[in-house]
Amino acid sequence: MCGIAGYVGPRKESVRLVLDNLKRLEYRGYDSAGVAVATSAGVRVLKKEGKLGNLVGALGDLATASGTVIAHTRWATHGRPSDQNAHPHTDCDGKIALIHNGIVENYLELKEKLLADGHKFASDTDTEVLVHLIESEYRVLGDMEQAVRSALRKVTGAYAICVVSEYEPGTIYAAKTASPLILGLGDGENFLASDIPAIMRHTRRVIVMEDGDFAKITAGGVILTDLESRPIDRKEFAVTWDVHTAEKGGYPHFMLKEIHEQPKTIRDTLRGRVTDEGQIVFPDFRLSPARLLDFNRIFIVACGTAYHAGMVGKSFFEHLLRRPVEVQVASEFRYSDPLVDSKTLAIIISQSGETADTLAALREAKAKGATTLAIVNVVGSSIAREADEVLYTYAGPEICVASTKAYVTQLVSLYLFGLYIAQQENKLSKDIVASYVEDLLAIPDKMAGVLADTKAVEKIALRLSNTSSCFFFLGRGLDFAVSMEGALKMKEISYIHAEAYPAGELKHGPLALVEPGVTVVCLATQSALYDKMLSNVKEVKAREGIAVAVVKENDQGLDERSVDAVLTVPSTRHDVLMPILAIVPLQLLAYYIASDLGREIDQPRNLAKSVTVE
Ligand code: F6R
Repeated sequence: MCGIAGYVGPRKESVRLVLDNLKRLEYRGYDSAGVAVATSAGVRVLKKEGKLGNLVGALGDLATASGTVIAHTRWATHGRPSDQNAHPHTDCDGKIALIHNGIVENYLELKEKLLADGHKFASDTDTEVLVHLIESEYRVLGDMEQAVRSALRKVTGAYAICVVSEYEPGTIYAAKTASPLILGLGDGENFLASDIPAIMRHTRRVIVMEDGDFAKITAGGVILTDLESRPIDRKEFAVTWDVHTAEKGGYPHFMLKEIHEQPKTIRDTLRGRVTDEGQIVFPDFRLSPARLLDFNRIFIVACGTAYHAGMVGKSFFEHLLRRPVEVQVASEFRYSDPLVDSKTLAIIISQSGETADTLAALREAKAKGATTLAIVNVVGSSIAREADEVLYTYAGPEICVASTKAYVTQLVSLYLFGLYIAQQENKLSKDIVASYVEDLLAIPDKMAGVLADTKAVEKIALRLSNTSSCFFFLGRGLDFAVSMEGALKMKEISYIHAEAYPAGELKHGPLALVEPGVTVVCLATQSALYDKMLSNVKEVKAREGIAVAVVKENDQGLDERSVDAVLTVPSTRHDVLMPILAIVPLQLLAYYIASDLGREIDQPRNLAKSVTVE
């Protein structure tokens, strides 16, 4: 997830104008930024590592420059944050500049060909292949528009791109597949951006580009076609929100926005990692299959939500690989003199990649000779840099302190990695791996279905915010791991006490607390344990507790007569994948209760997004 802004028109100091617009997109990425301005004198580019402020501070005479401008704030995916890896990227002669949000899946193959043709690369990014590809097409076709179209036909992956050039200094070419791009229509001038807030100070007339759209943007107008030059008609609309609402995509809080982004982040995390035959590939992976098979011990280490993802990972790995896996919170691991040696694989999970305890655990594992694999969201973070191997979760920047979209992408990464090991070990037939992959690929649409209708959860949340003095979250097996995450979400944003228990433990103590006004959220998504969960629900209702059930669609055992609310999620063929779907109603329940109580949802009291102290 990166931020894109652009402008074509007659205004003076258009570089400054575009960077002001880009400021509104910093929430989309903030590890480096850059700008290109095209005039008949050529294309000038400036890029700086760090926040946008670093770029603005280094502008010099560019601060007052005018021309056709594109600018970018980056959230690294390929290549660590640095001046060189920041966008825009330029062709060999510096005549074409390009910015990109997304992932070029076939960049290695494209880069090889371009290098063989003599192109010189200046960065480690996937993006740079795009601009060299356009350059190479331009050499043949002699026409920028055709060159951009032709280059994009050779690319697989996700992109929103904008291109300026010395050849047509008054034009921006833009195209999009999976990443967002909007056009702001002005009078004798036009704007573009990743998101509406960036352009709202200048115009409220907006066209939202759709997948496959290609735009030629000049001061005089916008021509929209598909990649094959067939005209496309997109309706312009008038934005009526205020800027603050718009920054959150129209949602009242980043948390709700991030919950709704989850289907997309899952798609992004799967992209490029599964083949058409349903097998797992990690294109940049350095750990050899032989090394993977040589481990006799696997540790998963993390904190908070990432630890809860690790709990799911443990069950999945043990289920699939029939190998013992230990999962530990990082602050315990580092002081427990763990039984780690050179035959240990330590999987370290962290959204930020900077959590002090997790980083220390990684160092402890390395010092004891383990091989370390990090599952991390922030590219170039300390944990990503120090681990022997990294699997990135493509959740994009997570702004709300309470983690949601990072969690589901951590789950997806663990599933992919477990399947990858099973593939190397020949533990599973190709068909079985493909059936897991098929289920994983279907999850984003299923989750989008859950998110499309949140009325049931909103209704029970409204009742519970006034009546519930405390919460228990119960589940068995994987449902217990999800319960842990559900309870954490509830306590951190609603400030109501919430505790998770393996459901069988209810009768060993906590049942003494169940009475009217106590809510027990009962997860029953694991078919093999379903009947046992029904008994637990009955135990709760017999003590007049409030029971909320989370069940799979077509559930026959629980309804509004037996419990106070039923929250339904779609099912998957493999129950081990249910945690990704089952967590969604729990995130929403916590959210709507906290919202009803008027809590500071995005920044709960006493908490920080990145815990860099012990
Ligand atoms: C809870 C939450 C925290 C983090 C924990 C680890 O919603 O966000 O529990 O999961 O602080 O942070 P990372 O994943 O950045 O290491």
